[in-house]
Amino acid sequence: MNQPTPTTTAQPAAVPEIHRGLAGVVADSTAVSRVNPDSNSLLYRGYPVQELAAQKSFEEVAYLLWHGELPDEAQLAGFEVAERALRRLDHSVRRVIDEIPTSADPMDVLRTAVSVIGANDLSTPDSSVEANLTKSLRLFAQLPAIVSYDQRRRHGLELVEPRDDLGYSANFLYMTFGEVQELAVVDAFDVSMIMYAEHSFNASTFTARVITSTLSDLYSAVTGAVGALKGPLHGGANEAVMHIFTEIGLGEGAAERAERWLDDNLSHKRKVMGFGHRVYKHGDSRVPTMHAALVTLVEHFNRPDLLELYEALAAGMDARTGIQPNLDYPSGPAYHLMGFDTATFTPLFVAARVTGWTAHTMEQLAANALIRPLSFYNGTPERHLEPSTEPILGG
Ligand code: COA
Repeated sequence: MNQPTPTTTAQPAAVPEIHRGLAGVVADSTAVSRVNPDSNSLLYRGYPVQELAAQKSFEEVAYLLWHGELPDEAQLAGFEVAERALRRLDHSVRRVIDEIPTSADPMDVLRTAVSVIGANDLSTPDSSVEANLTKSLRLFAQLPAIVSYDQRRRHGLELVEPRDDLGYSANFLYMTFGEVQELAVVDAFDVSMIMYAEHSFNASTFTARVITSTLSDLYSAVTGAVGALKGPLHGGANEAVMHIFTEIGLGEGAAERAERWLDDNLSHKRKVMGFGHRVYKHGDSRVPTMHAALVTLVEHFNRPDLLELYEALAAGMDARTGIQPNLDYPSGPAYHLMGFDTATFTPLFVAARVTGWTAHTMEQLAANALIRPLSFYNGTPERHLEPSTEPILGG
């Protein structure tokens, strides 16, 4: 005869304070960067990002993030030689990319490529600081080859080999477009890379730290971080901005169309991509510098129509919600003017943020604690299976 199903007498647990989305939670300390929403500032290893963008190259900033100090002349020269030596797209990575359809999301291509680099690298299990610095440099140097080749193959174009006489940004643009770009464009691109390089415990960096905290390897951490960055609430927003511009339409009457578009979207409670931030509530500290770079590009390419829509949408959003643009808002149209496909924008963000991700991976490892939060169970109360009347086979 079946036994009656036991019932639980446990009282429902009191609901603890839950920080959904970990909002407001200080999960650990970091010396890599400081985001201060009150003073609206962002410091990389103590230096304001605006000063770095004005005076330093992306290579110097990468060195700073990894080593904690800017390189002196000899250190920078050594860094550049090492980086340039690693720029050629690895054959096995290329073979895997060629197997992926050109219709694939470029972020999926990139995520796969990072994973392949990790699978091929014999030093993957070595998590010493020295080995991880080499792996970080390898990714830093290889990502431009992957991103540029993927954009080119989507247009039926051949891979362009890197040029060792060009700096990181000039070479990135050269490999993408097959021609050396003018200084104004190279500078704006370099600024965007520096702006995107690092931003404390954002979702993708936290993903990298979570993976690292299990004592997994650096490539796994970066592969996971690429996946986190793909989402439209994070890195994907720069692409979404360009889709909004296309939807509204550039040219005559764009400002009025932007107003109507905003009314419609906000009345349907739809988020406007490129606006708002989890930490900054009075504007993103990186926007003025990237906005200035965008204005330079608008003048360079004589595209006032783009700036007109840009300003109209931002003003309309401010008037209706008070919500300010984030970095993705100026960087989306800036990358568009440079000639990148919209689908390449988030991979560009990856190429920049890999410096921050890997700096955090090394920091996490230096004082590791497994990241494993708690959850409050709100599912079905405890219940039990009917006791079985069947004989237990083999029992
Ligand atoms: N468009 C319209 N409304 C927005 C908004 C946006 N971009 N960003 C925030 N809001 C509104 C929310 O609808 C919400 O309103 P409610 O209180 O009436 O529901 C309020 O502002 C708070 O937003 P919430 O999403 O809870 O804040 P958050 O701190 O979790 O969000 C983001 C931060 C980045 C996720 C959010 O601003 C967003 O989705 N932005 C668009 C995506 C984007 O550009 N991401 C790149 C970030 S760098």
